[in-house]
Amino acid sequence: MKVIQFLIGFALLALASSLASATDPGHLQDVCVAINDPKDGVFVNGKFCKDPKLARAKYFFFSGLGKPGNTANRLGVNETDANVEQIPGLNTLGISPFRIDYAPYGQRPPHIHPRASEIFLVLEGTLYVGFVTSDQLNNTLIAKVLNKGYVFVFPQGLIHFQFNIGKTNAAAYSALNIQFPGEFTPANTVFGTHPSINPDFLGKAFLLDPKIVKDLQNKFINGN
Ligand SMILES: *[C@@H]1O[C@H](CO)[C@@H](O)[C@H](O)[C@H]1NC(C)=O
Ligand SMILES: *[C@@H]1O[C@H](CO)[C@@H](O)[C@H](O)[C@H]1NC(C)=O
Repeated sequence: MKVIQFLIGFALLALASSLASATDPGHLQDVCVAINDPKDGVFVNGKFCKDPKLARAKYFFFSGLGKPGNTANRLGVNETDANVEQIPGLNTLGISPFRIDYAPYGQRPPHIHPRASEIFLVLEGTLYVGFVTSDQLNNTLIAKVLNKGYVFVFPQGLIHFQFNIGKTNAAAYSALNIQFPGEFTPANTVFGTHPSINPDFLGKAFLLDPKIVKDLQNKFINGN
């Protein structure tokens, strides 16, 4: 009886610890180059793996982070992704980088990576960056001005931002502890939904006149 209880307890513990693991699972082979075609593939919690004997340098390589992205847009920002879609060799490894470029006074608006923490390195310029804790810690703003070479960390799932406060371009490099971090920007996901959320409800939630909500919905959906 005791043994059975122990075994059940142990199984529950193992289950709990596997549920608590929120990044890519530990990899079971040297390499698992992602392929989109399941034919000849092995299924893992990510993408299918190419036959490991066919691993080549090109699957672990990306040249796109060396040059700035075009920042001529409303927010004056450009993010160049280098996740498992661009580097299939990242599959199952629990890591991925990206590059962000900012025009003078450009910004990455408040946004969230639901599945990863981010470590952020300034390549050039001066950025005001920060994140906000959840209501567990009273929505506290944790923010700082960063110069070239400085590093900042954005914890998983918390809303964070970067504003270029300089008159010059800025650029940064980020690494996230997952192969595909995901991203959502609340301004877009609230006001730019398809179809629109009832403006009366959003007005109440955001302390806004429903007419202003309608105007915001119009701008976020039709791009303004
Ligand atoms: C980001 O830069 C790339 C390369 O210059 C460009 O193709 C892309 O359209 C830009 N994205 C945005 C949102 O401006
Ligand atoms: C949160 O911070 C505000 C402003 O400092 C304070 O008035 C309030 O009591 C705090 N609430 C909690 C739950 O700590």
